[in-house]
Amino acid sequence: MSSSFPLVGAPNDRVDGRRKVTGTAPYSAEYPLAGLVYAVMVTATIGKGRVTTIDSRDAYHVPGLIAIMTHENAPRVKTGTANQPNAQEVMLLQDDVVRYDRQPVAVAIADTFEHAIDAAARVIVRYAADQPTIAFKRGERYTPAQIHGEPAAFSKGDPAAAIAAAAVKLDNVYTTPVYHHNPMEPHATTAVWNSDGSLTVYDATQGVDTDARTYATTFGIPVNQVHVIAKFIGGGFGCKGTTWSHALLSAMAAKLTGKPVQLVLTRPQMFSSVGFRPQTHQRVALGADRAGRLVGQIHELTAQTSTFGEFVESSAIISTAMYPPPNIAIAHELVRLNTATPTYMRAPGESTGSFALESAMDELAVALAIDPVELRLRNDVTKDAHDLPFSSRSLAKCMTQAADRFDWKRRNPQPRSMRAGDQLVGLGMAAASYPTNRSAASALVRIAADGSVTVQSAGVDIGTGAYTAFTQIAAELLGVPMTSVRMELGDTQYPSAPVAGGSQLTASVGSAVKLAVLDARAKLLALVAADAASPLHGVAADSIQLVNGGLYAGGGRGETYAAILTRNGLAGLEGRADAKPGDEKKTYAMHAFGAHFVELHVDESLGTIQLQRIVSAFASGRIVNAKTATSQYYGGITFGIGMAMFEETRFDDRTARIMNANLSEYLVPTNADVPPIEVIIVPEEDTIVNEIGVKGIGEIGIVGVAAAIANAVYHATGRRIRDLPITPDKVLPA
Ligand code: MOS
Repeated sequence: MSSSFPLVGAPNDRVDGRRKVTGTAPYSAEYPLAGLVYAVMVTATIGKGRVTTIDSRDAYHVPGLIAIMTHENAPRVKTGTANQPNAQEVMLLQDDVVRYDRQPVAVAIADTFEHAIDAAARVIVRYAADQPTIAFKRGERYTPAQIHGEPAAFSKGDPAAAIAAAAVKLDNVYTTPVYHHNPMEPHATTAVWNSDGSLTVYDATQGVDTDARTYATTFGIPVNQVHVIAKFIGGGFGCKGTTWSHALLSAMAAKLTGKPVQLVLTRPQMFSSVGFRPQTHQRVALGADRAGRLVGQIHELTAQTSTFGEFVESSAIISTAMYPPPNIAIAHELVRLNTATPTYMRAPGESTGSFALESAMDELAVALAIDPVELRLRNDVTKDAHDLPFSSRSLAKCMTQAADRFDWKRRNPQPRSMRAGDQLVGLGMAAASYPTNRSAASALVRIAADGSVTVQSAGVDIGTGAYTAFTQIAAELLGVPMTSVRMELGDTQYPSAPVAGGSQLTASVGSAVKLAVLDARAKLLALVAADAASPLHGVAADSIQLVNGGLYAGGGRGETYAAILTRNGLAGLEGRADAKPGDEKKTYAMHAFGAHFVELHVDESLGTIQLQRIVSAFASGRIVNAKTATSQYYGGITFGIGMAMFEETRFDDRTARIMNANLSEYLVPTNADVPPIEVIIVPEEDTIVNEIGVKGIGEIGIVGVAAAIANAVYHATGRRIRDLPITPDKVLPA
């Protein structure tokens, strides 16, 4: 193996950067197919009830109209998705029931997008409306059996008694609102039924293989009859991890019309049927001794789901990893409301859970008069709540390194004690963790006779830098320049890969790439061992490295891949591997850790917050590319700023209508809202998590940001805000 696989990899530029900035990287709505027609969804304007009539007469006056697809003429299909085969997450015009606001109720299909959107607007849908349940307090409550296959509740010891007897205790409720993902690229699907009955889909999806399985199930065809292509995705954040209604409706429209169909969601429709982060109410109770050591902890979540599907925002799980005391209980409960089914959104569970837990830790620090960093250091652990040792845990290093860079020691802990002119100054911090995930993945590495390398995996680069990271892994392990490697991703025809979600893609596919390189190495070594003409003939295999574009032992003895292949008359050589997790999750707790330090100014006459600076440190195992990783952290932190201060989906309590389904009223951070962010990468070697020691970086950046901001607002103003987002009305003095 090459020795040049550093713990923190070189900050190389993106290999796909030029294609993206020159507009030549194709996205799912950018395949100019012959005979392509355009579909636009008509969505419900009630939150609950039935469609009584659909009057399409006026729509048929639009020139170029091909069809209006409704529950009366839509192809019959099976519902359910690869993620939740038994749940009706998707609404595919199979009946007249309206289950949530903006549910698809018809699709207009026309020769141009403009004609389709005109026709869609002319479809008159009449309803028999019922009273929807949208108020969190009124929905039917139940306890889910499990969370994504794990138990939904866990307890050990007697936390209630331990907290009751503790010297210092608190028991608070923290709430987070509904958030929508809003990636820059709207969801888009281009679907084509081929003459052999197979289906080709250009889809804005985080995983082509899971996507293909849902199309196969829905249409009752073998999965190898579905070809999904997703070369470039303009952001996912979890909403593109499920094959939602619009995507399947595109393929249904293609079936109905016999033409290739493209369907792109409008921006308001990005709030309709593609999932969202559910509203949460979280109770956190903590008990500690006078020295600040936690003795008992309870973290209970109530979150919303839909009336027809189940999604659990797993917020309380983070409490099992951060500072679990001997007595601890976590629990999750759901409330059924008349909305679409919620889904995974960047750090699902940890982002919301950390707001509650890390706010509560700050409140405990205040109650104990102990510095918040010191309190967390005193509660650092070597095992999680399930008594599993951490494969590696660099939380303390993250906190101390970021605190140093931030100059945390200048902080006067007294609220309202620091000022800049007429502004109150707040300094706050919070810690973070995110689990290390991986799934089975395969990869192919092909070395051609000219020495060039092609690497293939079905995994999708959702904007994270996956093309670059895998190019870098292959180049470093093979000892060739990155410019010699062509990375091919996002196609079901390549070796299988899991969804780019759960921060798992680099760990999963990167491990497969490493094993595929090892497979190629073994084949190359067999060639030179059997070949008397090779300068490496007779050299011990373990002294041969993959460097300088070939196999070399000490003293420059060796030859290039091109020389080996050419002399053997081979056009190329392939290494293949299937990588999968072992039993490590049964014996180890595996997490990335981090810490955020925030400085902000509060104008008490306006209630406004101006962020000044954020310093964050993360330890996420091996970092393949320091530049793309830092960009992921910047993005996660910016997402956290939105969660903390700007974003909130508002529902009309009477009608369950979303009232701000647009980017002028659903606020996201702009450049002026985002302060200078410094990211510290804490090098961390972990030989347990997977073959390449990668923990994943896509989601941990957001975890803890909202708490760090809320904690800084408390420090500035003396006001504890437990309900996100932190808007001026909550900051203003009472
Ligand atoms: Mo991420 S929310 O696991 O796609």
